[in-house]
Amino acid sequence: MRTDTAEPVRLKDYRVPDHLIDKVDLDVKLRATATQVTARLSIKPNPKGRPDTPLVLDGDGLAARRITLDGVDLDLASGFVTPSQLTLTSPPQRPFILEIETELDPTANTRLMGLYRTGHAYCTQCEAEGFRRITYFLDRPDVLSVYTTRIEAEVSEAPALLSNGNKIAEGKIDGTSRHFAVWSDPFPKPCYLFALVGGDLGSIHDEFVTRSGRRVALGIYVEHGKEAFATYAMDALKRSMAWDETAFGREYDLDVFNIVAVSDFNMGAMENKGLNVFNDKYVLASPATATDADYAHIEAVIAHEYFHNWTGNRITCRDWFQLCLKEGLTVFRDHEFSSDMRSRAVHRIADVRTLRAQQFPEDAGPLAHNVRPDAYLEINNFYTATIYEKGAEIIRMLKVLIGDEAFAKGMDLYFERFDGTAATIEDFISCFAESAQRDLTQFSRWYNQSGTPLVSVTAVYDPAARTFTLDLSQSSKPTPGQPTKEPFVIPVELGLVAGEHGDLKLRAGEEDGASGVELGRGIIELTTPRRRIVFRDVPVRPSPSLFRGFSAPVRVEYDWSESDLVTLVAHDSDSFNRWQAAQTFATRLLLRSVEAVRAGGAPAYEPNFIDALRIVTETSADPAFTAQVLTLPGEADIAREIGQDVDPDAIHVARKALRAAIGHDLSQPLLAAYARLEDKGPYSPDAAAAGRRSLRNVALDLLVSGEIPEGVRLAAAQFASASTMTDEIAALGALSQAASAERETALESFYQNHAGDALVIDKWFALQAMIAEPGALARVKKLTAHPAFSLANPNRVRSLIGAFAAGNQTQFNAPDGSGYDFVADAVLELDRKNPQVAARLLAAFRSWRSLESVRRGQAESALRRVAGSPGLSPDVRDIVERSLA
Ligand code: PHE
Ligand code: ZN
Repeated sequence: MRTDTAEPVRLKDYRVPDHLIDKVDLDVKLRATATQVTARLSIKPNPKGRPDTPLVLDGDGLAARRITLDGVDLDLASGFVTPSQLTLTSPPQRPFILEIETELDPTANTRLMGLYRTGHAYCTQCEAEGFRRITYFLDRPDVLSVYTTRIEAEVSEAPALLSNGNKIAEGKIDGTSRHFAVWSDPFPKPCYLFALVGGDLGSIHDEFVTRSGRRVALGIYVEHGKEAFATYAMDALKRSMAWDETAFGREYDLDVFNIVAVSDFNMGAMENKGLNVFNDKYVLASPATATDADYAHIEAVIAHEYFHNWTGNRITCRDWFQLCLKEGLTVFRDHEFSSDMRSRAVHRIADVRTLRAQQFPEDAGPLAHNVRPDAYLEINNFYTATIYEKGAEIIRMLKVLIGDEAFAKGMDLYFERFDGTAATIEDFISCFAESAQRDLTQFSRWYNQSGTPLVSVTAVYDPAARTFTLDLSQSSKPTPGQPTKEPFVIPVELGLVAGEHGDLKLRAGEEDGASGVELGRGIIELTTPRRRIVFRDVPVRPSPSLFRGFSAPVRVEYDWSESDLVTLVAHDSDSFNRWQAAQTFATRLLLRSVEAVRAGGAPAYEPNFIDALRIVTETSADPAFTAQVLTLPGEADIAREIGQDVDPDAIHVARKALRAAIGHDLSQPLLAAYARLEDKGPYSPDAAAAGRRSLRNVALDLLVSGEIPEGVRLAAAQFASASTMTDEIAALGALSQAASAERETALESFYQNHAGDALVIDKWFALQAMIAEPGALARVKKLTAHPAFSLANPNRVRSLIGAFAAGNQTQFNAPDGSGYDFVADAVLELDRKNPQVAARLLAAFRSWRSLESVRRGQAESALRRVAGSPGLSPDVRDIVERSLA
């Protein structure tokens, strides 16, 4: 039963603010447990707001020391100020100055929101609602102010003092051991983009000259001694700055751009104006400590935060319901960047894998929500794969629908028209409606309806008439609060593949249902519940290649024959669909196996599938692509395909058997690839070299799965001699597949080699947490007592407990409920320290209803136990209640 009376915030209740804050002057005197903040706010009535309303400033756990209005002291004892609010019932109806002194304890701040300490630094995190933990404010994104920030600290404790904008003054404070710096940010911004850092940090510096000749001083601040580990991030930053100029015409606007890497951070990174703060995991890299995947993530996150300077900062969000306005768009932009830096085709596969692994289950479970939600209890819980990844997919779809040119024109319009404002999704969409001269009302349903649509396709070939008839239909299951849905606009990019002859020319006319179709680009728009289209002059029965490049975030149902799938794997001109055909084939096989295993039989075996993989392995010129083809859908993906009455153990057995069959049957080409792709010459993190390493390591893993003695020998040798973290952790992963004394020795030696490097030890935690054996939980529990583990650090929590809950399907879902109990206990303990991270961890339960009944019952009782625990944070309460609803 609910004990609190929290009311959701609703989009339909949005009102412009009645007051504005034009200018903010902050004076922050950093001290470990008693930091003094003086905020001088220039406030005025909003001419567009309602007159004569009270001024209510937000606070969160604040202690006010002194408040003056136009220089006159207000009586703190009169009750107008509480830790969570400052209310002036009848504020002046003219501009006035409110000066507020608060005192903070950054050392006691374990939520990592507001001002806190991390390593040798003080830092802030204000998105979404952390600024109100620093001072009283109109903490909403549509209140834009110009900030000046004076920071003062002990020289010895914080030689580096940073904030947004440009530095305008600095100096010693005479007669003391303290110094100060003053920063001024000329661009009006919402308070969630405010940041300051004071610390004893090492740094590297560089310069970027923008296309109009502005010289920008770049700095990356890291823990002392880690400077050399930041060079790749600096390189990625410069490439991002150049790319945004050429790809989107966006130039940087300040004289300084700084990045600070911290070890305690709730999320990936934060785009504060001119002062990005990063989880150090997305900054620090060296060949011996970071994998190729880490390098790719660093490049993507650096780009993402930098791109926010225009999509997020210059144009921000009117309210938090519009979060995808900045996040979906910025993810779209960082995907484009990474695609340009790397292989577009392989990158697309990786992005879709992520979408399916993270967003599809969200959309299919109790936590499903719109890309633009219409209500929330706790905004922190909406930094989700739906807002980010599906938000990016919608924009990609828009580009597919209206074409590159209209898309580029629409983006330009958006930047031109909304620069300096707090905008909405409607504002954004209106630019493309204008540039494409097209009504996008129906398209906007993608923002307002949750759930993954299913597109079912059937086909009939008539050899006499030489026609190929496709029937497409769309449907959407109910999601929380949305029992029925209106049809979406779904771009279906397709081709008809005639065996080794490749793509047929598509011919269909108005009379064939092809109006509004761009057959040149092979794009059909499905805008109604069903649609039929008849292709003419089709000489042979083709294999349809549907949703090329994953042209829409939907699930597809079509009854391809096995020979269709083999044809597509071998001959589709769209490499995404070559990969997809292999995944579809694998999924089909795995679903059959799961049923067989549950019925007490043996997993299915299909030589045609293995042969398809063999062809790719032996003929593909792109190792990164081959590695993707050889990687089966994950256990959670298979579970999602099954959808109900899921037995994770049967899935594990089926997948393991198929991997063993691949490793065994393809041992010759895999061994050949392993030998051929050996790294020669100096290390390079580029996509080509990373692609070779990835195929080599996928081959190694499969060989070990197939119990090929040579594979096991190679894994041990690679582990002993690896010169990169990519190869070292891959070998350790391969060796960890089965229980053995060698595995334990290898794990121990990995720890000894890397003790003290927290980010590397995180990999060691995660790898052990994901061992799919009954002993895993005991191992994880034991590791929570390891000196390198700490519940106070989000990266540690995610690596050990998060990896167990999200990455160990059989053990988290152990039928005795032990995995659920462990995670529930961890959530409850963590909730007292850091509710945001606790709530995220709890979301691992999101697919509980699709489990078979025993596990479902266990998961439900763990969730009920959490729900019934006293003193839950709003964050955890929100997730647990939605999960059980
Ligand atoms: N806005 C950040 C990003 O996507 C994410 C973030 C949200 C970071 C909330 C911290 C807190 O780039
Ligand atoms: Zn972002």
